[in-house]
Amino acid sequence: MATQEETFKKLVSHCKEYGFVFPSSEIYDGLGAVYDYGQNGVELKNNIKQYWWNAMTRLHDNIVGLDAAIFMHPTTWKASGHVDAFNDPLIDNRDSKKRYRADVLIEDQLAKYDEKIQKEIDKAKKRFGESFDEQMFRQTNPRVKEHIDRREALHARYAKAMNDNNLDELKQIILDEEIVCPISGTRNWTDVRQFNLMFQTEMGSTADGAMTIYLRPETAQGIFVNFLNVQKTGRMKIPFGIAQIGKAFRNEIVARQFVFRMREFEQMEMQFFVRPGEELKWFEHWKQFRLRWHKALGLGDEKYRFHDHDKLAHYANAATDIEFLMPFGFKEVEGIHSRTNFDLSQHAKYSGKKIEYFDPEINQSYTPFVIETSIGVDRMFLSVLCSAYKEETLENGEQRVVLSLPPVLAPVKACIMPLVKKDGLPEKAHEVEELLRYEMNIQYDEKDSIGKRYRRQDAIGTPFCITIDHDTLNDNCVTLRYRDTMQQDRVEISKLHDIIAKAVDMRHLLQNLK
Ligand code: GAP
Repeated sequence: MATQEETFKKLVSHCKEYGFVFPSSEIYDGLGAVYDYGQNGVELKNNIKQYWWNAMTRLHDNIVGLDAAIFMHPTTWKASGHVDAFNDPLIDNRDSKKRYRADVLIEDQLAKYDEKIQKEIDKAKKRFGESFDEQMFRQTNPRVKEHIDRREALHARYAKAMNDNNLDELKQIILDEEIVCPISGTRNWTDVRQFNLMFQTEMGSTADGAMTIYLRPETAQGIFVNFLNVQKTGRMKIPFGIAQIGKAFRNEIVARQFVFRMREFEQMEMQFFVRPGEELKWFEHWKQFRLRWHKALGLGDEKYRFHDHDKLAHYANAATDIEFLMPFGFKEVEGIHSRTNFDLSQHAKYSGKKIEYFDPEINQSYTPFVIETSIGVDRMFLSVLCSAYKEETLENGEQRVVLSLPPVLAPVKACIMPLVKKDGLPEKAHEVEELLRYEMNIQYDEKDSIGKRYRRQDAIGTPFCITIDHDTLNDNCVTLRYRDTMQQDRVEISKLHDIIAKAVDMRHLLQNLK
């Protein structure tokens, strides 16, 4: 059996081989943590974005969209706190010359304790079978208790150091826990320093007086600065939301795990403006709605969990992550934050403009509070692919790699294949193509044996293959093959559209969310 790590490596090469993801500017050996999406990747990514956009804007009368520019006035980032505080604590290993995030090193150490605890539990479960009481075992087994105590102590110390912004303490934790550099294996660490993650560039020529501007590290600020524009022109009444999909940029210190942590990535964010005092009710509402959005895709309910933040940003009064079980553990895919009225108040202060809402129901003006839902398109893409990638041994001993993607997200919905390249079969196949092409992304393939063609479509996750054979010319029926079961049905051409549309249409997914 391949380890999770080996499977993940295979997934990364599969993504390249089948046109999902390429390293950026690969002919020049790539650029660290920057990736390009290929012909199938862009379709999958667009489908994810469409699912999000429709669930947020079409299903909610009180949520509208926005597409703000990436460049913003630099004062935006002073006001938002990013210039002064959008930092990661970094540490270098003097022997390997490798740079790490101190918080990530400690979180990895916490995960090691979790693994040790889980290992003991799994062993005991096997030994005691049905009668195993996990709760009791956790409380009484000395080895497990020791791991739990050490984990808890480390966790408390780490949370305090992060909250106090105590960089010396972070280093001390790394030394006390005897954390080594994975490359050099040594504990020869530098001090921990803060590192600002924003990319800078210059706008305008130097003669005119160039201005330092930033590539936005989150799309959210474009929404905040447009709050009044949208509220007034859209005649929006609180509570209401503004949704946006767009690129964000962060000069990540540790860029690893493929598209999980990139320097250029895409976010789907929604800011929901509410009456002060009602924010925690809406925070709970959006937590539940967003989790339902994820689970509706059917990737497996057990693969999700909430992770409440230990360290709240200074402007937040509640925050949680939706984590997904990746091959490298439970990882954040989406953040849900109760951001108080911090951002709008800051922009009012720095711009000198009044940013308030007059609430006719209570006859009062106030600065709205904000609940934010923020999900990374690329992380969502990765979680979908990780759960879809399967290596199977078939009854005849052959191997196949299949992407069991949710049909609504699959890049190609159906592939139309004439059994042979002659006898009028390609012409008939093109007729079927015409029936479907205006509604969904389909492919036509007449090259190689039918078995090889099926494998190619399995590898990119196409849910349906349609084969046209000699009988089709007489009975107007085709062979419809289902990706996951490989079952084949004889189906009338006139019924094809309905069968396929039912499986790939986003409507059903959205109706279930309502
Ligand atoms: N406006 C709030 C905000 O940006 P965040 O938790 O920093 O919050 C939100 O980011 C989401 O953006 C994350 O949950 C993740 O999915 C995605 N994200 C953040 N940094 C990323 C990176 N370097 N590469 C890929 N996705 C990233």
